[in-house]
Amino acid sequence: MAAYYVTTPIYYVNDAPHLGHAYTTVAGDVLTRWHRQRGEDVWFLTGTDEHGQKIMRTADANGVTPQEWADKLVAEAWRPLWEHLEIANDDFIRTTEPRHTQRVQEFVQDLYDKGEIYKGSYTGPYCVGCEEFKSPGELLEGDLCPIHKRPVEWLEEDNYFFKLSEYGPRLLEFYENNPTFIQPASARNEVVQFVKSGLQDLSISRSSFDWGIPIPWDGKHVIYVWVDALLNYATAVGYGSDQEKFDRVWPADVHLVGKDILRFHAVIWPAMLMAQGLPLPGRVFANGWLMVGGEKMSKSNLTGISPRQLTEHFGVDAYRYYFLRAIPFGQDGSFSWEDFSARYTSELANDFGNLASRVAAMVGKYFDGKLPAPAAETPEISGALATAVTNADRAIGDDLDFAGGLAHIFDFVRKVNLYLSEQEPWKVAKDDSPEGRAKLATILYTAAEALRGVAVLLNPVMPATAEKLWVSLGAEEHLGPLAKQRIAEAGTWGRLPEGATVTKGEILFPRLES
Ligand code: ME8
Ligand code: MG
Repeated sequence: MAAYYVTTPIYYVNDAPHLGHAYTTVAGDVLTRWHRQRGEDVWFLTGTDEHGQKIMRTADANGVTPQEWADKLVAEAWRPLWEHLEIANDDFIRTTEPRHTQRVQEFVQDLYDKGEIYKGSYTGPYCVGCEEFKSPGELLEGDLCPIHKRPVEWLEEDNYFFKLSEYGPRLLEFYENNPTFIQPASARNEVVQFVKSGLQDLSISRSSFDWGIPIPWDGKHVIYVWVDALLNYATAVGYGSDQEKFDRVWPADVHLVGKDILRFHAVIWPAMLMAQGLPLPGRVFANGWLMVGGEKMSKSNLTGISPRQLTEHFGVDAYRYYFLRAIPFGQDGSFSWEDFSARYTSELANDFGNLASRVAAMVGKYFDGKLPAPAAETPEISGALATAVTNADRAIGDDLDFAGGLAHIFDFVRKVNLYLSEQEPWKVAKDDSPEGRAKLATILYTAAEALRGVAVLLNPVMPATAEKLWVSLGAEEHLGPLAKQRIAEAGTWGRLPEGATVTKGEILFPRLES
């Protein structure tokens, strides 16, 4: 069966990553971990986009070559951040690698040979921040890029063009036949309107600078950075070099992108693939922007906040949780310390962390740390777990509705808290009769088994925390490693065996320092 293939954008290495880049990458990581726990063959790709004027100018300004600049940023900023955030990508592609550049040249040469590319001249506005040809009509106040709010540059150069304008009807037909290709719906509507308004041919080369992959038949031109960049999704999985791998992994199931780069992925990329007769990706999902002061957080405008500023304070797992829980995926959102702190304290530390430590403490105190057998199943809780699993699986695994999926899981956590406060095990513990002991055993088994399900469901989102909980429940010794647990079985009641060694372990979410 074909692999479930998820990609993030490949990020420009003009500067270090900020919260916005981490937002897309964490979402991709959670999605792939979720599908791994469904038992699927999964491939998760990220990487860096290293050519073009934006990188060249940054390197110039820093007195190094673009390659030196890219090497440094990848080694010192990008890769270490993804490791720090526990991103489990299967590969990391850099567009300056020969495995990519050679295939890009072949791809472009092929289109040229097929008559899809011709020479012309381009005159018009260009935003180096976006690395995008703009149309005069979309500029603000005459010459400002609508995204970067800085003046565009006016280009006049000989370029090679791809006959993108011919693909409008086929693209519209494809969107029509594949209604979930572009998500969310607002993004889809925007793209459909854009394509209906008529496509221009696309300039796919630049001749006024040289930091790029040379056009194979005309060394005075380099390939437009976006054509180069989009192809990473194919070259990284063996396009043109490893047919077996390419057949296994391609097409991508989900391209995650910010809404700023939707058109490249939903219009240009499928047209490029159509031109080569390659299968099209399953879905392009556009996430919204993290905003600062009403504007998109951005490297170019120096409004980026480093993820490490937040992980130092809240920890990596809470960081991975927060943005996905707080902002409906696909919508814009803004970050505030107050909101993050409030959710950390109420949802993670109080509702979830306290539940885990209370249950472990009571099993320790009343049953010497050995999980007692329940006298009976508690359908109120076992049923709610099964429902939470079904709902979270559909929301996160199918719909990329991370906020909704996490809400289902945390509603269940609150239900278990409510169950404990109603059952009052600390009072039942005072009753030494066989009935009292049996009742206490049922309550604590129910809570521990509920937490087992929660550990499995939260593992894709907060792997270190889920692992601590798994170990504290004594699940590992009986059920094996958490990473091997299937989502579907998370809701199968009664998997924790009687006698499992429950230990208190470390506090999952320590109190925040002010
Ligand atoms: O566009 N909020 O790279 P890039 C949310 N190299 N997401 C944000 C964000 C914000 N404020 N800022 C950035 C490029 N992102 C190209 C991509 S792909 C073939 C080439 C995220 O470094 C979001 O996913 O500008 C956005 O699409 C991506 O970072 C852009 O990163
Ligand atoms: Mg950008």
